[in-house]
Amino acid sequence: MGPFQPQVLSPEEIRALLTEVSNQEVEQARAHSLVPLKREILYEGVPASAVVRDTSGKEYIDCTSQAWTLSVGYCHPDVLAAVVEQMRHLTHVRYGYPTIPRIKLINRLPQLFPGDLKKVVLNNQGGGTSIEAAIKLALVNRPGASTFLVSHRGYHGSTLVTLAASHYMPGLARFPGWGLDHFVKFPYPYCYRCPIHREPRTCGLACLELVERAIRYGANTPVAGLIIEPMQGAGGQVPTPPGYLAGLKEICHRHNILLIYDEAQTAFGRVGAMSAAEYYGVAPDILVLTKGLGGGFPIGAVLAREDLKGFTLVEEHTTFGANPVAFAAALASIEVVLREDLPARARRLGERATARLRQMQEDIPLIGDVRGPGLFIGVELVEDQETKTPATERAAALVEMAMEQGVIFDLDMPDVVKGLPTRRNVVKIKPPLVITEEQLDRALDVLEGTLKQVAQFPPEMLQMIRQQMVKEAMPS
Ligand SMILES: Cc1ncc(COP(=O)(O)O)c(C=O)c1O
Repeated sequence: MGPFQPQVLSPEEIRALLTEVSNQEVEQARAHSLVPLKREILYEGVPASAVVRDTSGKEYIDCTSQAWTLSVGYCHPDVLAAVVEQMRHLTHVRYGYPTIPRIKLINRLPQLFPGDLKKVVLNNQGGGTSIEAAIKLALVNRPGASTFLVSHRGYHGSTLVTLAASHYMPGLARFPGWGLDHFVKFPYPYCYRCPIHREPRTCGLACLELVERAIRYGANTPVAGLIIEPMQGAGGQVPTPPGYLAGLKEICHRHNILLIYDEAQTAFGRVGAMSAAEYYGVAPDILVLTKGLGGGFPIGAVLAREDLKGFTLVEEHTTFGANPVAFAAALASIEVVLREDLPARARRLGERATARLRQMQEDIPLIGDVRGPGLFIGVELVEDQETKTPATERAAALVEMAMEQGVIFDLDMPDVVKGLPTRRNVVKIKPPLVITEEQLDRALDVLEGTLKQVAQFPPEMLQMIRQQMVKEAMPS
């Protein structure tokens, strides 16, 4: 009997378990789920593509890659083949044990990124756990220092510590995270809405001075690390301007602070290079990876400079943190990214898409800003090009209407002002890097059509959308 012949259940039972669901089961799960569940029940992805079907058979072009993760597309056959092969041998081992995929992944990852990032730790929990590992690594390497600098509107996860390190959304999160006293926030270099109202062409990166001040005056204990997304994802698709990261690195090193990049969203090709570190030509001391690394399987990784001290087993381990199946998926996914040259594909498709979006901007004043690079695209919607008032309600309506038409978009994180969500106005376009030109064109057609529609919505309609938004976002 082969390893895939069930011994207790019949193949039909297993198939029914995973492919059939009644309305009653759906309602019961919705009633009992402790977290809200979206309306559409996703059922199957078209292999190695940007297309997914729901249980009714409706197809969607996915411009979210399911949390910016499926860079090689849904159910990539090479990833599946690696996973199946690995499952024939082992599906779980305890954390300390090396396995063949773990060994190969520890050796492979440092080859992909600039700098001297030779040390590696892996997990199967993802970005938040990896950020916590990076924080712990900085604590190990900067004894006595326990403060971390993090940016305004950064997002690093929803564990209690990474919530504290991230943009706070009071009300939407009814707890602010733990360890708040360990994090000092500085303004992110968001040039479209410059925190110090300078002109990007002539500012000379004056905002770097704010980081100096945060170090000098913001922290009562020495700073161990500075954590930054080199291009902010959830915060609104905001790339740091040229020269910023080099300046940041100089400041960090002058103050003996470890520079930590959170490349959860930007690595493995999405920005038109293997990483934002490569794109900007500035390597960090510690690099956090997840999402696109796993080809759809749960994984996180931290890379660190070779001279940094590592962990004891007590300091860094989890029960499921050494999953050989996910590591096998990552090994295959990395090769697909490289052999298909997905960074170049992201660059080419990204340039094409942003050029079209900038053209759209000429006709549609609702588009305030179009940002790349690669397939890391943000379209910021504003009520007025001068005042840049965020078109939050129109953006929310657009996402709903596009979904009806079979295109999945998503938005940035909201600000919360006086207990109400506001400024959530950046449409994110981050499809699998294998998306075809036709699919991307179709997604942009839908975007253009819906933009034109929502631009016409009268104030009463916006008021209604706002009420609905608040109802959905806030706890009942
Ligand atoms: C930049 C960044 N860091 C960290 C995380 C958290 O990752 P996870 O949800 O796997 O904990 C995310 C998730 O979206 C992210 O975008």
